[in-house]
Amino acid sequence: MKKPIVLGIETSCDETSAAVVSGGTHLLSNVVSSQVKLHQRFGGVVPEVASRKHVERITWIIQEALDQAKVSLKELDAIAVTKGPGLVGALLIGISAAKALSFATGIPLVPVHHIAGHVYANHLIKPLPFPLVALVVSGGHTELLFMEKHNRFERLGKTMDDAAGEAFDKVARLMGLPYPGGPEIDRLAKKGEPIYDLPRAWLEPGSLHFSFSGLKSAVIQFLQQMKSQKKEVDQHHLASSFQTAVVDVLIEKSINAVRKTGVQHLLLAGGVSANRQLRQQLTERCRKENITLQIPPPELCTDNAAMIAAAGTYQYLDGHFADLTLNADPNYEMNQRVE
Ligand code: KG4
Ligand code: ZN
Repeated sequence: MKKPIVLGIETSCDETSAAVVSGGTHLLSNVVSSQVKLHQRFGGVVPEVASRKHVERITWIIQEALDQAKVSLKELDAIAVTKGPGLVGALLIGISAAKALSFATGIPLVPVHHIAGHVYANHLIKPLPFPLVALVVSGGHTELLFMEKHNRFERLGKTMDDAAGEAFDKVARLMGLPYPGGPEIDRLAKKGEPIYDLPRAWLEPGSLHFSFSGLKSAVIQFLQQMKSQKKEVDQHHLASSFQTAVVDVLIEKSINAVRKTGVQHLLLAGGVSANRQLRQQLTERCRKENITLQIPPPELCTDNAAMIAAAGTYQYLDGHFADLTLNADPNYEMNQRVE
């Protein structure tokens, strides 16, 4: 059978991206246009500004992805687009572009769940080793998933409040660091030690759910206390203390999820998997526990359309298509797409 060639389109947040992937694994192009600089002065993503920028860029980015891949529209088997979750206005731009292309060419349209995309970023490096557990940690999500085969996702745990990346961004803001805060805290923590005592939310024994809002409040309290006592806060140590508190919980719960499901393989995905301490300590821990760990390179950890094209390929092979009534779903549930 001919390997399907899939165009992926991703506009769920502040990256406008298009990519072409062959056979679900082979990356032919992955064009990502980040809006980070644009949102930096607001200290976070401004949805309306993001939508406007997506409108300006989307057609150029799609053209660039096709050009770089040396693939014509006629050669495409499917157009995969992020249906949700994400910012509704931002999602709509990618979806409208995908629908217009599909309508004009007759190429089938495939809706993709953004989190499924993050997991499939791994598939572009090495085929997904089923059965597996995946930890998806991004600005909007913190989820532990179990996958027995392609397109089947069982949620084992999720965050009850802030996502891990969101906690990094909020704490960075409290520390006076620019947006996005994750890479800034990562950089500062390299030269710090986790000397400040911050809480870890384990929740009830054995729970695979997460909570990061208490940690954020603890940082606020700590900063207020230090200020009232006229003591100086060491930014490096605070970054390291906060990062260690997040990483400890992420690692422990992931290992628990692997043990509970009896699988051999753990996958890391999402923007926060670019974090140095998380990558290093999880790698060491998995080696000790005889668990194989897969982490995509940093450029595939953050939002990109190649991961959407990869996940979309298996939706396409399963015959999971959308018609031109396809709409953005900012709260798209993962199990809604599992038959
Ligand atoms: O996956 P992603 O690009 O977008 C979402 O789907 O949310 O993730 C972005 C998040 C941001 O919160 C950012 O601060 C965080 O990933 N991030 C990091 C690092 N690089 C990006 N967090 C911690 N350490 C990093 N090195
Ligand atoms: Zn994402």
